[in-house]
Amino acid sequence: MTGDDVPEEIFSGDAHRLTIGLRPLDMQTWLDPDPDDPQMPMRRDLLGSRRSEVFGATAGSESARAEVARAVADHVQAELPGRDDPLVEAALLVRDDLCVLEQREGRWLLTAGVVCFPSRWRLSEKLGQDVTTIHDPVPTYRATLGQATDAAITAVGRMRPRWRVNWTLLDDPALFQPSAPSGPSHRPGRESFLRVERQCLVPVGTAIVFTIRTTVLPVAGLDDDRAAAILASAAATPDELARYKGWGT
Ligand code: HEM
Repeated sequence: MTGDDVPEEIFSGDAHRLTIGLRPLDMQTWLDPDPDDPQMPMRRDLLGSRRSEVFGATAGSESARAEVARAVADHVQAELPGRDDPLVEAALLVRDDLCVLEQREGRWLLTAGVVCFPSRWRLSEKLGQDVTTIHDPVPTYRATLGQATDAAITAVGRMRPRWRVNWTLLDDPALFQPSAPSGPSHRPGRESFLRVERQCLVPVGTAIVFTIRTTVLPVAGLDDDRAAAILASAAATPDELARYKGWGT
């Protein structure tokens, strides 16, 4: 259950904090091309029936899309069929969502993406924005992490692949979850779902691909120590961040 996709460190019981938390990526572990994973048919369905919500590209991103797609296909030793947008075809080879970042006038912009499993955000609203602006809904991000994250992404561009983990507790296990429910906020408990994102930043030519592999587990299915630790972390999270995450009391 734990391992690359759900790193043990998230069960430390420490308060959830905003951190960059990037570390070197072992490229062997970058992408998950398991064709039998139940997420794969969901990706195909979403790209078929809700394409405009899960795929987006800005003008001028064509060559970066093609390069990123080729890097993904090469990595999993597959061919791109060449019938659709290369980024879409690449996103159907793996369980990981693909966001293309390109540097324009010193800022890293999200120029294209296939995001089948958004955690309460919409690709169409973020496309074309720089990474700091993308994070504006995240309290204190711009002031505390904005510049350091930009610098870290630029360092990735010097051929240094990195990964980090992000987790939350939600009342809804849906993988495709572009918005939060409008009802009362959710109090994390044993009936919640742990949603973990393994995020990688990998340089491809002058672009960077930000990949997101999502795993959702019922808290009730965790062993008692891990369930208690993750709920303790949520309970100790500063109010402003807890509110952003939709956690009530
Ligand atoms: C080192 C790089 C990055 C760091 C440190 C970082 C950090 C974070 C953090 C702390 C959150 C809040 C999540 C939570 O606590 O639940 C977040 C949310 C988010 N991140 Fe990142 N992130 C990084 C890169 C990126 C990139 C490259 C993208 C481009 C697609 C991205 C897209 C988002 C989005 C869309 C959200 C949700 C924002 C919203 O609520 O509207 N992140 N990120």
